[in-house]
Amino acid sequence: MPNDSSNAKNWRPATLAIHGKGRLPKAHHAVSTPIMHTSNYYFDTADEVEDFMREKGQGRVIREHEYARYGNPTQQECERKLAAIEGAERAVLYASGMAAVLLVIMTFMKPKGHIIFTGDCYRQTRDFAINFLGKFGIEYSIVDPTAEDIEKAIKPETNIIFTESPTNPYLRVLDIPAIVKVARDRRILTIIDATLATPYNIKPIELGVDIVIHSATKYLGGHNDLMAGVALGSTALMTDLYKMQRMMGATPGPLTCFLLERGLKTFGMRMEHHNRAGLAVARMLEAHPKIEKVWYPALSSHPDYKIGMEQMKGFGSVISFLVKGGNAETRKFIDALELFLITPSLGGSESLVTQMWAMSFFDYSEKYRQDIGMVDNLVRLALGLEDVEDLIADLQQALDRI
Ligand SMILES: Cc1ncc(COP(=O)(O)O)c(C=O)c1O
Repeated sequence: MPNDSSNAKNWRPATLAIHGKGRLPKAHHAVSTPIMHTSNYYFDTADEVEDFMREKGQGRVIREHEYARYGNPTQQECERKLAAIEGAERAVLYASGMAAVLLVIMTFMKPKGHIIFTGDCYRQTRDFAINFLGKFGIEYSIVDPTAEDIEKAIKPETNIIFTESPTNPYLRVLDIPAIVKVARDRRILTIIDATLATPYNIKPIELGVDIVIHSATKYLGGHNDLMAGVALGSTALMTDLYKMQRMMGATPGPLTCFLLERGLKTFGMRMEHHNRAGLAVARMLEAHPKIEKVWYPALSSHPDYKIGMEQMKGFGSVISFLVKGGNAETRKFIDALELFLITPSLGGSESLVTQMWAMSFFDYSEKYRQDIGMVDNLVRLALGLEDVEDLIADLQQALDRI
């Protein structure tokens, strides 16, 4: 078990991302956590099996590992560090962000229940609600991402409020304490997908949220080279999630966990860079004559500037904007970029660009796309770790080509 340090409560995210809350004995005194590529862990004697099973039945753990679907040592180390950074009692890792989203919802949904989702959320989350919740007899509402709209949508059957903050692509920032208040009064579970914020920029658990989810594929992994997801919260809630996780098998493999733990070692430095770069590029774009509008919560023009400034330490490196003109001008700009790869995702070392309607909403009807704001000239940037001066120069030369 971890030797929690008495100083750990004062450690900051960058330190917690490297050390967790203290030192854990490691195989062969290795500094990095070894990758255990094994599907099962053997027992020395038949008696040991019986002891293990009896103690487990009583909720006691006398040895950590048994079968790889139930977890692996590198996963455990990542979970420990992620919980420390988030300020949560416990973390449960998943094979992807969507595995985390779905399994959290499926663990806590109730027959004949009602779940509120906030709009402008990740498309697959919205699609799960629209296409699958009905099969389980669960009702849902998708509402504007404000505390007032959430409160208005609450029914007697509502048992989950599932939010995302900041949202994607419009980077709406939710008033989390206000949402927690309306939920607590009615004993509704609050869940937030805080992928775009990361625990570097916001601490939802300190603000009273029950469960925080991240797609660790993004800033936590940080290098565009792994898929993982994580849910964080109290030991009681995480124990329920872990029971479902063991059955569903959406467990990240040991190599993924190694890459994630390695990514976490530079989490603090990377987030500082992302926050600085995001602000510099957002300001440059807002001042540019070929840009119609920019969404970045640190700009006073953003609708949630005030809430964002109160709640968040920084705003990361996702920036959405409208290019002046239509589809043709927008594509000319995107194709002229030299440092940005045309692909979805965010939070990694390489800068990425997407024309939102074509990349993520192509199969929706034109009308629905317009309704949810996926207009032809909407572009989302996810800045990487390149020198920000080079990124700005690249954006400027691409805009000059329109
Ligand atoms: C906000 C948000 N939540 C969840 C996910 C899903 O994560 P993953 O792709 O790791 O399954 C994404 C992916 O883009 C996301 O942006």
